Amino acid sequence: MIWYPYEQMKTMKAPYKIVDAEGVYLYTEDQKLIDSVSSWWSVIHGYKHPELNRAIISQAEKFSHVMLGGLTHEPVQRLAEKLKDFLPGDLDYSFFSDSGSVAVEVALKMALQFYMNRGDEQRTMILALNHAYHGDTFKTMEAGDDEDYHFVLNAYGPSKYVVHIPTEIQALEQAFEKYRRRLNCFIVEPLLQGAGGMRMYDVSFLKRARELCDKYDVLLVFDEVATGFGRTGNRFAADLVLPDILVLGKALTGGYIGHAVTVANEKVFRGFYDDSPEHALMHGPTFMGNALACSVALKSIELFETQDYMAKIRRIEEITRREMMGFSHRQIKEVRIMGGCVCIEVKDAAVLAGYQQFAYERGVFSRPFLKYLYAMVPYIISEEELVKVLGTMKEWFAR
Ligand SMILES: Cc1ncc(COP(=O)(O)O)c(C=O)c1O
Repeated sequence: MIWYPYEQMKTMKAPYKIVDAEGVYLYTEDQKLIDSVSSWWSVIHGYKHPELNRAIISQAEKFSHVMLGGLTHEPVQRLAEKLKDFLPGDLDYSFFSDSGSVAVEVALKMALQFYMNRGDEQRTMILALNHAYHGDTFKTMEAGDDEDYHFVLNAYGPSKYVVHIPTEIQALEQAFEKYRRRLNCFIVEPLLQGAGGMRMYDVSFLKRARELCDKYDVLLVFDEVATGFGRTGNRFAADLVLPDILVLGKALTGGYIGHAVTVANEKVFRGFYDDSPEHALMHGPTFMGNALACSVALKSIELFETQDYMAKIRRIEEITRREMMGFSHRQIKEVRIMGGCVCIEVKDAAVLAGYQQFAYERGVFSRPFLKYLYAMVPYIISEEELVKVLGTMKEWFAR
């Protein structure tokens, strides 16, 4: 029996069974659905993309996987080189892993060990944001502030190692003032907090965070697992404010295969690079640098660059703003739009009960959670398809 994610298995309704997928569409036996979730925000080029398919198939004909312990190969070398060019600043050192959660774990381990390697054992604390989500593994749950985990994490009591603050400059300054010698890093989902409720905040907060991190010698970590590759309307938030460590996942492979990367800058890398074996980064997921994942990631980045994806995302944002302009309802608290993300926050979660089936019947796949009804569509969506996704959301309130 399959144990499904985030579900009470006793009461969950049967999932829709997908038999085919192409472009923005998922197919069940009896319905054709626009995937307004992009398979958890990852399938930016749509399904069954001919070039991505070809990249995987041609690599599979050579070899699908070899470990990176003592071995290397061309796709991983090329992807590391590509990321060096594609990413801003001196984010040049790529540590691959198999999922976003693991890549965040790696970032947190890097940040802690960076100071340990210098003999600074005081910096055991992490600064993070209220409503943060960084993954489902233990340290990422602790750094996060996801309501879903509060219940189980209660078993440990309040964390000694993580401080959470709101996205307010005053709270940021106070936290740095109070914990400056104890912090190894400040980790954020920059500009857009996804699983915490599609919360959007201003770049001025990140700019101030960069200044304070420089002033107090704290590493700035951007978890761009969700925001990377255009979702906020920027290629990366890191293009606006440069972090010391950047984490990418989801869209890295165009949503084809689970893979992620923790990218360090020169300063962080130098903190590990010396003659002591103890100072090495002790991490090594079995499937890091998987050859199929690297091949498809290379092709995905090539498409992103050559097909002017940033213009596609600007168009999605323009259409979304146009369609949602003036839209309000007594059950709605707020409509938020940023780049390729739109979220309707309702006042009471009960308002969204039944929406998934309503959307299904109209040819849209959606997965609202808590008080949030959102769309993060594949970037190749047509205007007509996007209008249908947004129209279905609006229609729900007009019933
Ligand atoms: C910001 C952020 N970080 C980390 C993760 C975890 O990634 P994964 O599900 O690949 O472990 C997610 C997943 O939604 C995410 O949104």
